[in-house]
Amino acid sequence: MFSAQKPIYGNGAGVNMGGGGPSTNNPGSMSMPGVPTPMGPGMNQQIPSGGPMLMGNTLNNNNSNENGENNGNNGNNGGNGGNDANATRNNPNMVNNRGAVHALDDPNVYHWICQLTYGPQKEQALLELGRKREQFDDLAVVLWSSFGVMTSLLNEIISVYPMLQPQMLSNNLSNRVCNALVLLQCVASHPETKNLFLQAHIPLFLFPFLNTTSRQRTFEYLRLTSLGVIGALVKNDSQDVITFLLRTDIVPLCLRIMESSSELSKTVAIFILQKILLDDVGLQYICATLERFYAVTNVLKDMVEHLTVSTPPGRLLKHIIRCYLRLSDDLEARRLLKIVLPAKLRDNTFTEVLRDDVGSKRCLAQLLLTLNEETS
Ligand code: TRP
Repeated sequence: MFSAQKPIYGNGAGVNMGGGGPSTNNPGSMSMPGVPTPMGPGMNQQIPSGGPMLMGNTLNNNNSNENGENNGNNGNNGGNGGNDANATRNNPNMVNNRGAVHALDDPNVYHWICQLTYGPQKEQALLELGRKREQFDDLAVVLWSSFGVMTSLLNEIISVYPMLQPQMLSNNLSNRVCNALVLLQCVASHPETKNLFLQAHIPLFLFPFLNTTSRQRTFEYLRLTSLGVIGALVKNDSQDVITFLLRTDIVPLCLRIMESSSELSKTVAIFILQKILLDDVGLQYICATLERFYAVTNVLKDMVEHLTVSTPPGRLLKHIIRCYLRLSDDLEARRLLKIVLPAKLRDNTFTEVLRDDVGSKRCLAQLLLTLNEETS
């Protein structure tokens, strides 16, 4: 089973949302909303701290890993091919001479990579490698370049396509594929593998998951973890990523998720939309037709309506405001926004909510100012 869904959002249950905690107040900077880590077979567990696979290659240089293993012994640089894997399995943080932590210096990584490719412990390999993803700064490179690994991950993904119907997708299967997605996210976020990942069109494999609409947790989790992969791709602004995504029609998928998925999925989906809008090509794309513009603003408006009934609006509102503000950079969109901007953004409904968020307050003020100015 999945661990607590609702509390995941907003650090409610002491769960690390990743992305360095609350987003900064700098309107220009965005931290990617965290995505919880699927935890494999026994999903009754708490999502581990360290869970969100976010964003940035935060190198976890602590001497403890997520299993709480902590032997403080960094002396074993074996790397001798897995025979002593059992002996060294509890020694996850091998530090090389330069202080960097290389995945292949840890025989456990080698062991699990072999298992992932050849079995028989593929499922456990997915889990173990996912747990290790933040310990090494080069796990993504190892995953990408190890023979058979990407094939194996894609195979995990493709094999659940026939099960994407309510009642057919078991918790266990959903967890398993989420663990594979977490490893894909690792590859998608690393600067050395990101472009290769994109050029191989691997994000397309996620679309069947993003395209599901079931509200069952198994499906929510698949959508959320898939969004996490896309979120990792858009995180560092890259025109190539945006151009690729626009060609795939990701926007309507994000909009649907923003309309009807869990709050956490909504947050990642709007993060992706915001990143698309911040790109000049993305903004032009959305503003190219009235249908697109209205599709986006209708969903944003609905979200604003729902914010007032849910507590507290948290990150969604920040993203909503920034999406509107960015839309107002397009003159035609600005003209229309004067008409369709929700009254609740004009009438101080959110003053209290935004009290401590200087960045969002400033963005909202700027938006209202822009809309009040005359445009030709
Ligand atoms: N092919 C559609 C289009 O280009 C994709 C689409 C549907 C879309 N709904 C959208 C794009 C909303 C942006 C916004 O319009």
